[in-house]
Amino acid sequence: MKILIVGNGGREHALAWKLTTEHPGRVICAPGNPGMAEIATCVSADPTNPEALFQLAEHESVDLTVVGPEAPLANGVADRFAEGGRRLFGPTQAAARLESSKAFAKSFMARHRIPTAAYEIHEEVDSALASLSSGRFGYPVVLKADGLAAGKGVIIASDQAAAEQGLREMLVDQRFGAAGATVVIEEYLVGEEASFFAVCDGHTAVSLPSAQDHKRAFDDDRGPNTGGMGAFAPTPRMTEAIRSEVLDSIVKPVLAGMAAEGAPYVGVLYVGLMLTANGPKVIEFNVRFGDPEAQVVLPLVDDDLAPLLDAAVAGELRGHSCAMRGEPHVGVVAASGGYPGSHKTGLPITGLSAAAASEDVLVFHAGTKQTDAGLVTAGGRVLTVVGRGGTFAEAIGRAYGAMSLIAFDGMHVRTDIGRKADAPLSDGRRPAG
Ligand code: AMP
Ligand code: GLY
Repeated sequence: MKILIVGNGGREHALAWKLTTEHPGRVICAPGNPGMAEIATCVSADPTNPEALFQLAEHESVDLTVVGPEAPLANGVADRFAEGGRRLFGPTQAAARLESSKAFAKSFMARHRIPTAAYEIHEEVDSALASLSSGRFGYPVVLKADGLAAGKGVIIASDQAAAEQGLREMLVDQRFGAAGATVVIEEYLVGEEASFFAVCDGHTAVSLPSAQDHKRAFDDDRGPNTGGMGAFAPTPRMTEAIRSEVLDSIVKPVLAGMAAEGAPYVGVLYVGLMLTANGPKVIEFNVRFGDPEAQVVLPLVDDDLAPLLDAAVAGELRGHSCAMRGEPHVGVVAASGGYPGSHKTGLPITGLSAAAASEDVLVFHAGTKQTDAGLVTAGGRVLTVVGRGGTFAEAIGRAYGAMSLIAFDGMHVRTDIGRKADAPLSDGRRPAG
């Protein structure tokens, strides 16, 4: 099977690592990154342009295309491939609205009684301000830009002044451009977060190991939201009972609802969950693997991945399952100083080969670039270093041990990734597993 991977981040490097292990010499990446270039063929192509990707797949006679990021899906790359009769794993543009429009996702959940935070949708600043003043949501309150904003379009406002300022930034100052022209105001949920992944064929879902992300820039979940500073899997919070509740109360109704609305969902459904005292509730949907969650989830998949994704595209998942490992994996992100704000690039990176040679460690590239002078930084999130071990403590030790060998100017790493895996639950019990 010849496989095309679309994207150039840590998630795509993890996909390339998994798929080249199982299909050596059969993987091409568009555009890929220097880490992916070590194990697969990289071809320059605009990953956001459906037509360019389709032509590449035609030219290379690709059997299965796997899309990493959301932008190509929101741009209709799955529709273009379906039209041309080529297999692509990922939802159509209409189905990708579960991620590309938070207003669509919220009304969809309301239509199908899927548990999520109470909300209102506003386009006018006056009505939005009036809603805040009514006290319906209390504080903190959550404000979300409707459209895609690279994980940065969410404001958690602790009081009325902050909420008013946030609403004005989105609706009046247009800080998120068109993505923020519609705003979702949302009830603040309390609980532990978990990232749940299911491979879907339009009607049937096969769940993968769940992970926990660390979205804030600094230790102890402080600082601004980022794309993700680290993750661990499998999360001990996702007990078998919660997993089956998520499948029954969320994933199955999503598949039934999308099919009934004429946009059957094919691809990875990423359910961002809050495990509240009243059961799991949806914080958000994403229509692809998480980054950095993929870097810790894919190493846990014990089966050949491509046939599973291919069966999903063919609508033939019924009866499929996926063997999984239970070994703790912890992935730590090395980011550029200043990320998620402005940051320098082009800074030399040292120590990568020593880190990658460490036992029970995987190093995935994200924002890196190969130059005549060697490897340099080229983005906000530069690398993910994954450690595995018999316990979370061991996995953490391996990830940070390897990370300590790597250096670049201004490198920023959270020091507490994975610690929550072993922390007591809010009711004082220790997590199982
Ligand atoms: P999102 O981009 O929707 O995943 O939001 C980013 C982060 O904001 C989430 O990972 C949560 O930590 C937080 N968040 C979003 N919605 C809520 C909510 N309704 N209640 C509490 N925290 C939230
Ligand atoms: N790590 C969160 C995301 O991929 O959206």
